[in-house]
Amino acid sequence: MTTHFSEQAMQILRDNDRGGYTVPTASLYPYQWNWDSAFAALGFATFDEDRAWQEIETLFEAQWPDGMAPHIVFRVDEPTYFPGPSVWQGDLGPLPSSGISQPPVAGTIVRHMAAGSPERAKALLPKIDAWHRWFHAARDPQGLGITAITHPWESGRDNLPNWDRPGQAVDTSTVGDYERRDTAMVDPEMRPLKEDYDRYLALVYFGRERGWDRDLVAAETPFFVADVGTTAILLRAERDLLAMGEAYGEIDVDAVRDRIALMEDGFERLWNPEIKAYCSLDLRTNELAETASSASFLAWYAGIDSHHDELISELTRYIAAAQFAVPSFDPEHALYDPIRYWRGPVWLMMNWMIAHGLADFGRDDLYDRIRADSLALIQKSGFAEYFSPADGQPCGGDSFTWTAAIWLAWADGDSA
Ligand code: GLC
Repeated sequence: MTTHFSEQAMQILRDNDRGGYTVPTASLYPYQWNWDSAFAALGFATFDEDRAWQEIETLFEAQWPDGMAPHIVFRVDEPTYFPGPSVWQGDLGPLPSSGISQPPVAGTIVRHMAAGSPERAKALLPKIDAWHRWFHAARDPQGLGITAITHPWESGRDNLPNWDRPGQAVDTSTVGDYERRDTAMVDPEMRPLKEDYDRYLALVYFGRERGWDRDLVAAETPFFVADVGTTAILLRAERDLLAMGEAYGEIDVDAVRDRIALMEDGFERLWNPEIKAYCSLDLRTNELAETASSASFLAWYAGIDSHHDELISELTRYIAAAQFAVPSFDPEHALYDPIRYWRGPVWLMMNWMIAHGLADFGRDDLYDRIRADSLALIQKSGFAEYFSPADGQPCGGDSFTWTAAIWLAWADGDSA
């Protein structure tokens, strides 16, 4: 691959560095985001290992005493971002933060880097372990082996159409007036709608009113959906944690094995025989989502291959219906929108996880296709936040950390 793009990608990571942590992009997201940081570390690891470790270490500096690693860490107060620290009031941890988490990619990235620096990996293992245990206690209190989200933002896939139906249970009548900042910076056609934002805020107020008490939130929130994406990412991270625990000690590996066994069984609860794909499950109504999404194809990343042919057919349909793989939502569905955030666009860090899972199960053909499309999108449209699967146009913010990181991880010769 041309070094021109690699140099640009390294420059983006350096420019987005705020001193030990990176922001996803300069103006739109001026704080440290959880899974963004995990991917930032993947990118830094290709040219500055020390800085890669720092990214994960600073993320865990904000870990709450109960184990939660928050989805946003507010080290500074940036009035250009809404909702910021004064709205969230997530003050149960050592640093101001939001009151929810995000998909736990960090354990997988730490394993990716561990061989080069086992001591630094070792120091992180108890923290990662505590975070995973938090997911089981706080987001799977019934022990079903699937992981709930209490806010669309907790999935990292904010306005996915799969959240529309469960979101209707959220009362937005008391949200009142507020001023969004995102739509002033990015084309509103690419951002979530006001009705989505009303729900996002109502759920922030809901948690805040309960002092972010994890058990109260889990018991009372109207929005409690077992997310196929978060479940797959946690299961994968548990396997990576186990491998590191076996190599380096520091954690109770039998407990990790038990959690993995529980999740391997639980994962089948998400299989939707009508769609022939893994789908999210609304735990308040016990209804499976009627549509798959790109996260359904993370089953392989999670080490699950129980319905190989059916899931491959669904993935192949997604890819055939678009020019660039992998659309985040069914490109043949009425709710598909190729440029509106998580209602269709391609996100490269999703591609990286989906492709690696496929490679683990021998599908190098699909790995190659997804990797090639991902690199082609950057060559065509730069380091955008995300891209249209229909024509590859750049969408959302630019000079984006995780897009740069995926370029570095893939262009640097990372292969299946
Ligand atoms: C948006 C994305 C989320 C990401 C954040 C920062 O909220 O949906 O996944 O972590 O922006 O990039």
